[in-house]
Amino acid sequence: MNILVTGGAGFIGSHTCVALLEAGYEVIVVDNLCNSKVDTIDKIKKITNKEVVFYNIDVTEEKDLDSVFSTHIIDGIIHFAGLKAVGESVEKPLEYYYNNLVSTMMLCKLCKKYNVKKFVFSSSATVYGDNEIPFREDMKLLSTTNPYGETKAMSERILTDIAKADSSLCVTLLRYFNPIGAHESGLIGEDPKGIPNNLMPYITKVAKGELDKLCIFGNDYPTIDGTGVRDYIHVVDLAEGHVAAFKNITPGVHVYNLGTGKGTSVLQLVKAFEEANKIKVPYEIVDRRPGDIAECYADVSKAEKELGWIAKKGIIEMCKDAWNFEKNIK
Ligand code: NAD
Ligand code: WQD
Repeated sequence: MNILVTGGAGFIGSHTCVALLEAGYEVIVVDNLCNSKVDTIDKIKKITNKEVVFYNIDVTEEKDLDSVFSTHIIDGIIHFAGLKAVGESVEKPLEYYYNNLVSTMMLCKLCKKYNVKKFVFSSSATVYGDNEIPFREDMKLLSTTNPYGETKAMSERILTDIAKADSSLCVTLLRYFNPIGAHESGLIGEDPKGIPNNLMPYITKVAKGELDKLCIFGNDYPTIDGTGVRDYIHVVDLAEGHVAAFKNITPGVHVYNLGTGKGTSVLQLVKAFEEANKIKVPYEIVDRRPGDIAECYADVSKAEKELGWIAKKGIIEMCKDAWNFEKNIK
């Protein structure tokens, strides 16, 4: 089976390529490398000892993308390609709406032309907004606080409407919580350009001495220690969630949370990182970051029941693997 993986050179996409190849699927990656490096493709090959077909193509460019569909028989798509920096999306909303929505629609258009029926989409827990925890797939979604989040909510609606109009389509929407960690080989992981926006890559840069200290955004939330609580999930578990989703894909629209179901505060994550890696992470408490919510974790029972998937790796392993990868970055 050939799976087209858009954004397959990125953080979650590369780990998913490894999981797919290890599960016996053939993988075709399309990525324009706007937030990733081409070496990642070689690293995927090195880890799995398997071939990967790679195209440096922008998913919003119809002619280029059409050539991929006309060259290969594609059995399904996992669509990761997208821009994901929340703050940047507020400054450059058009870029985010254009890239994230046109890419999804272009893929749908070509799926129709080439009769591709299976579509797995990277959504985000951000679509729940500031909802009651734990977040369940059947909850009414509340508005998101930024254009990035809106592109995820809108893509979900676009895919749902397209699937409603064609009952043979199989659409799976995966709502990720907070993916961290890296492959145990230390070859692939999260390597954001510039100063990281997300907590774990910031922590690893502080531990490495590239940044002075971590700024913890608020310690006055109604949480266990006042700092924000999130559901961190090891990226390798998340990648395996995609294989389970693809294996179990059926007609209609199906939504799954991919998380661990457990909340960890910022301070708890910092302590776990220090303990796991025997290294200090200096920090300072600063004001809350606008748009942040106090607490967010998943109800993961639906994915367990319907996909037979559950996250296995704990916070200590996530911290060890994130650090192991960071130490390898030149
Ligand atoms: P990433 O930036 O590492 O990977 C995205 C990849 O898509 C990159 O390699 C980038 O070069 C590529 N890309 C972007 N626009 C493209 C385009 N128009 N054409 C071709 N390639 C393009 O991000 P990630 O963390 O691996 O996230 C993957 C997906 O999961 C994204 O859609 C993201 O919004 C979603 N997601 C991520 C998180 C998270 O915390 N990392 C959480 C929820 C959802
Ligand atoms: C986690 C916690 C911060 C950085 C974002 C997106 C979401 C999804 C995942 C993409 C919060 C605190 C952070 C720092 C800190 N992304 N923090 N100091 O905000 O839960 O989710 O990434 O698709 O859509 O919104 O993740 O890692 O930024 O923050 O104190 O330097 O760490 O306040 O409590 P978040 P995060």
